[in-house]
Parts: sequence; structure tokens; C-alpha cells
Amino acid sequence: MSEYLTISETAKLLNKSTKTLRRWDEEGKLSAVREPMSNYRVYRKKDVETLFADFLQTDVRETISNFVAPENEYKVLELFAGAGGLAVGMEKAGLKCVALNEIDKHACATLRNNRPKWNVLEGDIKNFIFSEYYNQVDVVTGGFPCQAFSYAGKRLGFEDARGTLFYEFARVIKEVNPPICIGENVKGLLNHDNGKTLQGMISILDEIGYNVVPVQVLKAINYKVPQKRERLILVGIRKDIDLKYEYPKPYKKIYNLSDALKKGELFESNVHKSSGAKYPESKKSVLDLVPPKGYWRDLPIDIQKDFMGASFYLGGGKTGMARRIGWDEPCLTLTCSPAQKQTERCHPDETRPFTVREYARIQTFPDDWQFSGPMAQQYKQIGNAVPVNLGREVGYSIIKFLNDYYKVK
Ligand SMILES: C[S@@+](CC[C@H](N)C(=O)[O-])C[C@H]1O[C@@H](n2cnc3c(N)ncnc32)[C@H](O)[C@@H]1O
Repeated sequence: MSEYLTISETAKLLNKSTKTLRRWDEEGKLSAVREPMSNYRVYRKKDVETLFADFLQTDVRETISNFVAPENEYKVLELFAGAGGLAVGMEKAGLKCVALNEIDKHACATLRNNRPKWNVLEGDIKNFIFSEYYNQVDVVTGGFPCQAFSYAGKRLGFEDARGTLFYEFARVIKEVNPPICIGENVKGLLNHDNGKTLQGMISILDEIGYNVVPVQVLKAINYKVPQKRERLILVGIRKDIDLKYEYPKPYKKIYNLSDALKKGELFESNVHKSSGAKYPESKKSVLDLVPPKGYWRDLPIDIQKDFMGASFYLGGGKTGMARRIGWDEPCLTLTCSPAQKQTERCHPDETRPFTVREYARIQTFPDDWQFSGPMAQQYKQIGNAVPVNLGREVGYSIIKFLNDYYKVK
């Protein structure tokens, strides 16, 4: 099979016009190359698949379970650990966290309070050297904050990325040499700097000895999370390993807000009372008028104009503004601050944001996982996290890969 796609084949596959593809080529989002025999402009199949795997993904199938039992004790080094959403998920899957790095003191306190035996390395990643873990760790994971690169040449090299947190992520992988590494990020990374940032990350991982598996954006609702959150997953496999990594398969069953806050399949009891933020009176009086599953368009027109300000005239759906969640739908993506302007997610029955414990439930943190620091910091830690149940499913996929790796090693 040819490793190239013609321009019209690519346009058809991605459902885009050839004009859009030409623009993407100019912007560096998806670069065309010359086919060596014919000298026609074509696309590398691998580039199209790597950047658009999510787009090309087929429908959700019925999955019974992604569970795989670890055949050895597998060790994780978790970077940018936050309050431990991904770490707890991986622990639930059966992986062992040997060390976690995090700069934020409240998030570190959360990790230590809940898991006194975890080795929490508090501080800026730049100040830590991880070479003591060389060949001692099976997977390095991390949700590195996304930053733009500055480009000297056409292809971004490892050293060019110095000063960014992705550089630090790659530097640690280089120091530790794990068979597999996993980065997680927001979906927006796909289009960040017209796709060049992601391309740069892929070329850096390639340079340090890792093949990147076609990138996918996983929808949390397909992984037993009652929230419409999406996470981009970047998987690197050390180049000496000739094994396929498979993403966790999506489940068909979708959980709703009632599954998060009430006794049911996800939790054994109704959510416990806890502290929570309040809306200012001006916002509350507006949200009082919005029904469950409703948003700003459900308000009288004069209040719409007043509440939305300039946004009223800007067009677009803005379905997250003045939004009240319904019991029978998954929650919209939680943000780092629950009363944040323009991303209201109001409780279905009461006119207030979700409490800290409700937030934690929607992110599928277990009820006994306590968050440290002032209330705003607790919300931030929860809002920043990978949903625990999504982390667990990603954990199973790592275990499956490592079981295969140690069989053939
Ligand atoms: C998106 S959050 C990670 C969430 C985490 N994966 C979870 O599931 O809970 C990114 C984290 O990177 C941390 N961070 C940012 N800059 C850092 C640095 N220079 N060194 C270490 N951690 C850093 C932030 O404090 C934040 O907690």
C-alpha cells in the first residue's frame, strides 16, 4: 500500500476542501511533500493519521471492559501531577507511582495527605534530575502545560524547545528511558499555533528516540465519567520496541449528573455536604430564570442582552453561558473556578455552583480523596485534573502494552 495520499484523497478523507488543505500547508499545520517517483504534491499517510486520528476514529463500539491485570509490578513516574487525577486513576488500574513531581504547594499537600507513602517531589521540574530512575521506571506520564515554541529552522529540535515545560517533559523521558511515555493535554493542542506546536512535540519525541502513536482525543464520557471533557493523549513508544499500543476502547454507556451526585453505579451513596462557592446576587437572580439544561437563550431578551454584554452580538452558540445542568445529562467540562464568568454550570435544583465535593464527584475522584488549601485552590486542583476514571482506563492500556513488552523482552 502506498505511504502517500493524493491531495484529493486527503480532502475527501478529512472532509475538507483542497483550498483548506493548501492553506494548512502554508500555515505548516499539515505539510505536503513531493512523491519521490512522480514528484506530485502528496501527503504522508502517517502525518494525516497522526494529526487527525480522532477525526478518523470510527463509531463507539460496545466494549465490555478494558481491564487488564498487571503481570509484573509496573512503575510510573508522574510529572505535573496536580492533585493526582491521573495518578489515582493509574493506581486504580494497578500501576505503582514511584515518584510524582508538582510545583504547587497545595496540590503537593493534597498528594501527601492522601498518600503519605508517595514520593512527592515538590518544586519546579527544572530543578530536578531524574537520572536515578534510569531504566527503573516503566512509564513516564505528565500533563505538561502547553506553551508555544519559537522556531529557528523548519523542524523543531529538542534543544530549540529549551525553556518550555514540554522540553522538561522530554528531558525527563530522556533521563529515565522508559519503554512508554504518555503526555496528556487539552484538545486545543491540536490547533495550537496552527498545529505546529503538536508537530514540534512529535518531532522532539522522535529525536529523543520515541515513535509517537497517532494522536487521539479521548472523550471522558466514553470512559465512565459523567462529564463532557476531552483530553488529548500523546503516546510515545521507545524505538527499539516493535509492539502496537492500543488506546482504551470507548464504552457505550454514558453516565449523567445524577450518576455523579446520587447513589448508583458510580458511587455508593449520595454526595456528602461540603463547602462551595456562591454566585454574586446579580448572577443568581439571572440564573434563577434558567431551567435545567437551559442557558442564556432561555432568558427574556432584555436580560440576555444585559447578561451577555458584547458577547450577545458576537454570534456563535455560547451554549456554556448561564448554563444550568440537568440531572439526565453529563455535566459540561468543569473549569478551574466554578463561578467563572461565561462558563456557568449551575446546579439543577438550586441556583449555585457545584460544591467542592460535587466537583470532585463529577471528576470521579473517590469520596475519601481530600483536597488541601483554600477553597479556590481546591476547585482549581479538581478542575485541572484528568478524570480519575479516564486515568484508570488509560492505565489499563499501559498495562496491556507492558504485559506484552515484558513477554517478548
Ligand atoms: C493540568 S495540571 C495536571 C493535572 C494532573 N495530571 C491531574 O490529573 O490531576 C498541570 C500541573 O502542572 C503543574 N506545573 C506547572 N508548572 C510546573 C513546573 N514548572 N514544575 C512542576 N509542575 C508544574 C501545575 O501546578 C499543575 O498542577
